[in-house]
This record gives sequence, structure tokens and C-alpha cells, in this order.
Amino acid sequence: MKFFNNLFNKKVEEENYSKSFINPIEVEFHSHLIFGVDDGCETIEQSIELLKDFAKLGMRKVITTPHVMSDFYKNSKENVYPKRDLIRQRLVEENIDIQFDAAAEYMIDDGFEKKIAAGDLLTFGPEGKHILIELPFMTEPRNLSTCLFELQIAGYKPVLAHPERYLYYANDHDKYLELKDRGILFQLNMLSGIGYYSKPVADTAQYLVQNKLIDLVGSDTHHVRHMLLLPDVINHKLYRKVCEAELLNNYL
Ligand SMILES: [Fe+2]
Repeated sequence: MKFFNNLFNKKVEEENYSKSFINPIEVEFHSHLIFGVDDGCETIEQSIELLKDFAKLGMRKVITTPHVMSDFYKNSKENVYPKRDLIRQRLVEENIDIQFDAAAEYMIDDGFEKKIAAGDLLTFGPEGKHILIELPFMTEPRNLSTCLFELQIAGYKPVLAHPERYLYYANDHDKYLELKDRGILFQLNMLSGIGYYSKPVADTAQYLVQNKLIDLVGSDTHHVRHMLLLPDVINHKLYRKVCEAELLNNYL
């Protein structure tokens, strides 16, 4: 009997939780919606469909972040901004009520220091100083510390994309604390919490959320398969937990 009572109370608790939750996030800032520049959208139609879906999810603004890598995706303002502008034009024509901008997701690779020195980086945020960076999935890059130092000296605010996905940090949580001590902002991938990538990634996401190390959330949407999962994510307890923190999304 006790078992059934517990079960029943748990169910009621979950239902109440579910009814009272309103997603507080209005700005989505990690996705791959610029068509034909990386492994995200391939056509402008796909970009527009996903933006319609973001509007339906209650987002007032989407800042999309195409990959920039020295060997693979050599994107820059030159090719990204004209496509951003085409998408903006289509949003107006189709009467889709959402603000749209483009920045980038920079891989910390051998060529990144040169890019910092040259300036002209694709940034975002109220002062245009936030910059989204990612690391390789296999090993920590040897120039990470130098790149972070150079970015910060130049006045940028680095946001580390999906820290929970770098499993070389998962068994060495001090690494996360070191990065936080240096003022690096952490962006959790919304899909990580539901186990989309792997169990170790989901566990690490939980660690980061429970220890209040997350500053922002992002969907990292590449295609419609990611988008279809987002309503489930918003109903997931880890997402609700992370939203209890003062996230920076809505200031971007
Ligand atoms: Fe990404």
C-alpha cells in the first residue's frame, strides 16, 4: 500500500510540476540554421521551417552559430551575413515574428589564435563581446589556455559550448572548476539532459546543473530531428532545474 501511495504522490507531484512550468527562455543562441555553410541546414526552406518552430516554442530571438574551423568550415562574416540577410528577408515576407541574427561557434584549433589576432570575429550579446567556442571531442587542445587568455585580454566573453560533451573532463571535474574560475561561461545543450548523446554526457550534464555551473542553455539544433525533441526537453526535470538558475539567455 505504501508503495502505491508513494507512486500516486509522485505522479501528482509531477503533474503539478508540469502544469506550473512556463519556459522562461526567450532567446536561443546555439544552432546551425545558416543554410549551406556547415553540417546544419542545407536549404533556406529548412532554415525558415526551423525558425517557425522556434517561434512556436516561444522564442523571441534566435542567434544562430555556424561552425568555424580552420580546416573544414572556413566561415566568416563575408559568407555568413549575406545568408543571414536572405533569411531575414524571408521571415519578413512570410510574416514570421522572430528576431534573427548570426554569430558563430569557433573550434579552438591551431588556426584560432590567428583569428583572434585579426579581430573581426562573429560575436553576439548586448555589447557584441560574447563568443561561442567549442573544443574537440577527443582531447583538450594544447592551445586552449592561450586562446582563452588572448580572448579575455581582447575583451571577449567566451562561452564554452556543451561542456558536458567533452568526456575527457567528465572524470576530472576540477577542470570545469578551473575554467569557471577563469570566468568562462558554460552553455548546456538542451538535448544532453534527456540522454540524446550518451549516458555519460547526461550524467555530466546533471553534475554541471546540480553544481550550478551552467550560465546559458542552447539547443544546438542542426536539423528537424533535433527540433522534434525540444518539446520533450522542456518537460524534462533537468531542464526545469537548470531554469531555476539565473541564466543569461534573455540578456543576449
Ligand atoms: Fe553547435
